[in-house]
Amino acid sequence: MITNTQSGTNIEEIANGVYRVNTPFNEVPGGFSFNQYLIVDDEPLVFHTGFRRMFPLVREAIERVMPMEKLRYVAFSHFESDECGALNDFLDAAPNAVPLCSRVAALVSIGDFADRPPRPMADGEHLSIGRRDLVWIDAPHIPHGWETGYLFDATTRTLFAGDIFTQGGFGVEPIVESDLVEPSDAFRLGFAAPMGLPDSWAHLTDGEPIINRLASLGATTLANMHGSAWHGSSETSAAMLRELARRVANQ
Ligand SMILES: [Fe+2]
Ligand SMILES: [Fe+2]
Repeated sequence: MITNTQSGTNIEEIANGVYRVNTPFNEVPGGFSFNQYLIVDDEPLVFHTGFRRMFPLVREAIERVMPMEKLRYVAFSHFESDECGALNDFLDAAPNAVPLCSRVAALVSIGDFADRPPRPMADGEHLSIGRRDLVWIDAPHIPHGWETGYLFDATTRTLFAGDIFTQGGFGVEPIVESDLVEPSDAFRLGFAAPMGLPDSWAHLTDGEPIINRLASLGATTLANMHGSAWHGSSETSAAMLRELARRVANQ
């Protein structure tokens, strides 16, 4: 459902009670997109806020599904403007909402940046938001930021995978079943090169245990922040994670 004809912002349900808000972005050659994910439950949670200037579009989309003021948690993977730039706008619009992030993000950035104190999540910590059980996984520097972590919805087996499988293009398909390794790898290598910069991955020398941990969650849906979400078998999601990490390591 298109929620803003000017920007092309749209919202679609990609797993039971999980909605992708997608806004196309023209300022990257070949196109790009920013996604936020709304999890509707007794205590609704949004994963990623989008840029501060994108907030009216994201709000408009969310409000097609539920009133903003019902939100309880504003979660994000790491401290960058596309992940959490609109955090304070969300807190303002949802008086009972709190930021939800890693302990490092809380300590280093959010305790200062946010208008209300965050709810820090320890590695492996569970959070019930009603019918579903969420777990926080610390993933420092995967792909970047030492405060980085992810949420896994054990109920729908959805991994909110942030920037890991970043794809170029507008992410027109809300959810795909096709391979993500090739498009993610191509974007990773192609995006920063014209600026004379390395890719967006931190190239952690000991990242394998973190990747293995994410791969072992049994995710059948990957809620990606840039491009399409993905659905398939847990074996395939694990294989894609390991293959992408192998390519990054061998670059
Ligand atoms: Fe990022
Ligand atoms: Fe991002």
